[in-house]
Amino acid sequence: MLTAQQVPSALARRSCSSALSQLPLEIRTRSALFSVPNSQIASLASQPCSSAFRPRARPPHPGRYQRYQGPTLRAATRTRSSPPPLLRTMADDHSSRSNFNDIRVIHSDFELDVNLDKKIIEGYVKLNVVADRGSPSHLLLDTRDLTIHRVELLSPLQSPTGEGGPIPLKFQLDEPHKVLGSALRVDLPADLVGTLTHGSRLSLGVRFTTSPSSSAVQFLDPAQTAGGRHPYLFTQCQAIHARSLVPCQDSPGAKMTYSAVVRVPQPLTALMSAVPDDELPAGGLPHLADVEPPYPTSLFAFQQKVPIAPYLLALAVGELSSATLGPRTRVWSEPSMVEAGAHEFADTAKFLEAGEAIAGEYLWGRYDLLLLPPSFPYGGMENPCLTFVTPTLLAGDRSLTNVVAHEIAHSWTGNLVTNATWEHFWLNEGFTVFLERKILGRLYGPATFQFHAAQGAVKLAAEVERLGADNPYTRLVPDLSGGVDPDDVFSSIPYEKGFYFLYYLQELVGGADVFDPFLAAYIMAHRHKTLTSADFRNFFGEYFNKVPAAQDVDWNTWFFSPGMPPVTNTYDTSLAQQAYDLAMKWHTCDVMGIGSDGPEGASPAVVAGWSSEQMVAFLDKLGQFRAPQPMHRTVTKRLAELYGIYDSNNAEIRYSFFKLAIPAEDDQALSATAAMLRNQGRMKFLRPLYRALHRSKAGRQLAEDTFAEVGMSYHPIARKMVASDLGIKE
Ligand code: BES
Ligand code: ZN
Repeated sequence: MLTAQQVPSALARRSCSSALSQLPLEIRTRSALFSVPNSQIASLASQPCSSAFRPRARPPHPGRYQRYQGPTLRAATRTRSSPPPLLRTMADDHSSRSNFNDIRVIHSDFELDVNLDKKIIEGYVKLNVVADRGSPSHLLLDTRDLTIHRVELLSPLQSPTGEGGPIPLKFQLDEPHKVLGSALRVDLPADLVGTLTHGSRLSLGVRFTTSPSSSAVQFLDPAQTAGGRHPYLFTQCQAIHARSLVPCQDSPGAKMTYSAVVRVPQPLTALMSAVPDDELPAGGLPHLADVEPPYPTSLFAFQQKVPIAPYLLALAVGELSSATLGPRTRVWSEPSMVEAGAHEFADTAKFLEAGEAIAGEYLWGRYDLLLLPPSFPYGGMENPCLTFVTPTLLAGDRSLTNVVAHEIAHSWTGNLVTNATWEHFWLNEGFTVFLERKILGRLYGPATFQFHAAQGAVKLAAEVERLGADNPYTRLVPDLSGGVDPDDVFSSIPYEKGFYFLYYLQELVGGADVFDPFLAAYIMAHRHKTLTSADFRNFFGEYFNKVPAAQDVDWNTWFFSPGMPPVTNTYDTSLAQQAYDLAMKWHTCDVMGIGSDGPEGASPAVVAGWSSEQMVAFLDKLGQFRAPQPMHRTVTKRLAELYGIYDSNNAEIRYSFFKLAIPAEDDQALSATAAMLRNQGRMKFLRPLYRALHRSKAGRQLAEDTFAEVGMSYHPIARKMVASDLGIKE
């Protein structure tokens, strides 16, 4: 069979509707790894249920895993005739109290003074706003834990010469909502209101101060840094924390450009999600004249000329240096980690080029990385021009850099083409996982793509199992109305169900040769915009309007049914299979109670040539087999010993092993888990490990003690999420 590489590239580049009709049927419908025979494709449209794909196989092992069957079958047998629920394309964002649909901030100029002693940021922002509809009488901005000192009208001023300076405006902070914060209501002058029409522009200034408890910001004491000599600060604004950093319209729908001048104590460096500006403004921070730091300071200036959603605002301050990785790429970190970072992320420029080949020109100028201290709560965060990454990626062998490929992919899906609200988060993350895997596939071959896809399916099944197949948060498009905190809904679902859906669509319309040009067209059509799931559906429908199979998508079920997807994708498991086979051997040996020596023939030699990802695949598959019952600790101990788990530098391997060994109450694993909870703060590791400890008899106290000991050193978001996982009221 043909592979994507064998299809003539000119053909692959042609737009779908023309290219598709000229493709031989074999290419149109084939995937080397996809199990639908060509003969079935034509009959897709007449199928009574949404799937002409292989019926979901019965899981090989009885137990809780079987529960997937119920909701999945229900979803799969639902008819396609019911109309989709009304999805508004002009999205109301339940997560923002701003009125960005009426009057919108399109540019912000920030002046920021970073006070690491008081753990606050003093700020002034000049907001350029444009009236969009009606004649708005007030501007609503999002804030949380901000003090607002003054709001003023900067233009138009009543006197054409601007004499008399800015005009103070009346403002009020609404009653705070626990999740959404307090809307800052700014009354526009009555005589101005009548003159505002669609497109009218204003500029306003807001003087504000953050609070030490601002959820976007973590201040680190010198002892929490690698260098140990200077304090450090970094922000994390996704999903709705930007409002605790600066007053803004904290909705992805309110994209804006920005500039910033940041003052920090010497000898620290400031970095932002923007291109550094070599030219410093002569006047320094003119609107912060009331703030006079009693120590020597440095100024840093930035420009972000591509409109960004406010969740992409980012700032880091610390003792930082960098190494060049490519013409537009460098890695930043504390000096002692630069070398390790440069080694680990040496492939970044290659990833970027692969991303461009698939998704189009990279529009952001620079792509730098910032390697953060261990409390950074995510694997990576796609802050424009400056991806933030966790030091837990430093395995030494570049085996965890798919996270960098992922964050690079966000340069198109997420940062350029953006979910209109957090209900459509899969449009950011599902597409980005899809593009991430395409980047990896391009660099390392189709089997790598398939391996990661298969791993994703295991992860999806585990996540649905954990959350419950009826849990509404397992919907691809969840309902976030009523002040739901997007952090509470966060899971692998939008990532992996989103990926699963896109792969299904790809195979449905004829495979990557047809879908890749669609993807590029989708990005081109939506860049600089935001969109909802309905917008995506419409675009797909129009693009593939001549493809009969494309009319067959059961959008309703995919978007709104909880649980596993309504169809089953089939992936090539050539790279994963050995791992799965080994998992089955350990599973069998454990079930039979003969685990003290491991399965027959078990030896380190069996896994000697494996990638660390295959090792993780083995452990996760074993976890899936063992879900209903814990393993025996003799087996987990033997496994760790045989494969040198405790000697591994790879955080993912250790983490996957701990998930098996905690329920087994393996004492060595319990204390090694506690060490991992102490020395890094990535939520992907913290939350499942704390939950697993807390569930186990032997680990419960350890979880509580560890959190009591180190909880305050976690990022505020991580602290809050772990506390809630442990049932601790903060
Ligand atoms: N944008 C996310 C991180 C995020 C999501 C922060 C939601 C806050 C709210 C980032 O791109 C991400 O998905 N990171 C993953 C990488 C992985 C999927 C390769 C991570 O942190 O593990
Ligand atoms: Zn992501």
